[in-house]
Amino acid sequence: MASEPTAEILNPADVAYFQRGAWENPRFWNRLGGQPDLRGKKVLDLGCGHGSLCIDMAKAGAARVVGVDINERLIRFANANLQHNYPELADRVSFYCLDIAQLDEGDFDLMTSKDTFEHVMDLRGVLAEMHKRLKSGGRLYAAIGPLWNSPFGDHDTIKRLIGINLPWAHLIVPDHFVLSATAKRIGRPVHSYRDLGMNMLSFREYKQIIHESGFVVEFFKPNCSRHPVVQLFSLLRHLPLVGEYFVSNLYCILRKP
Ligand SMILES: C[S@@+](CC[C@H](N)C(=O)[O-])C[C@H]1O[C@@H](n2cnc3c(N)ncnc32)[C@H](O)[C@@H]1O
Repeated sequence: MASEPTAEILNPADVAYFQRGAWENPRFWNRLGGQPDLRGKKVLDLGCGHGSLCIDMAKAGAARVVGVDINERLIRFANANLQHNYPELADRVSFYCLDIAQLDEGDFDLMTSKDTFEHVMDLRGVLAEMHKRLKSGGRLYAAIGPLWNSPFGDHDTIKRLIGINLPWAHLIVPDHFVLSATAKRIGRPVHSYRDLGMNMLSFREYKQIIHESGFVVEFFKPNCSRHPVVQLFSLLRHLPLVGEYFVSNLYCILRKP
């Protein structure tokens, strides 16, 4: 089979997505208290997507960077982009399309996962695999969100149908309407929001999974943003019964004892 030409893999839409890392990656680290010293470190990024955070970590001096993702198209982009635009990093960075359980590499000093855990269907299992491959004392830096019960937890599923973003609409409109219209739009069967890549976990469930993961929780901060609405959410999230609906994202640092 003929391989896809590089120009098609490195198409403008994907390049633009990759370039969002220029402001998203510094924000990721800032919200986690600053980028740690990566010089000489062996690092893994779970759900690396287009590979922007991996490239940045290699530029920051990491000795080896492994990006894993289950999306073949994105890994093809990440590899082509690495070879074409960052050849000087190619001997230190690898992108693999696989489930982390299949990764036969361990002893990582540090791990990251940015905007991915809300898409991971078996989060308990994936955290266990990450834990196994991290050195004792190593840290996992994670950003999660938007969370399912937050105003836009459907990751724009309804917006793509009606053109506007209505907060919490995905929790109010019966799933059947949204899923059947989405199935027509994308031309494949959709039985649940999980078929669209959202794990639908609540904040309470994340807390429980993280606290049972065997990691020491060093930093755990919901609603990381300077946006005034999110600041207001930081107060509302303490309300009894409805607090859950006011957690838009979650940032945490987990250490392997
Ligand atoms: C919203 S994207 C974020 C990508 C990248 N971290 C970023 O910030 O641009 C979520 C990514 O998680 C990946 N993903 C979902 N489940 C995964 C799993 N079990 N293991 C690895 N990657 C996964 C998806 O394929 C997707 O590329």
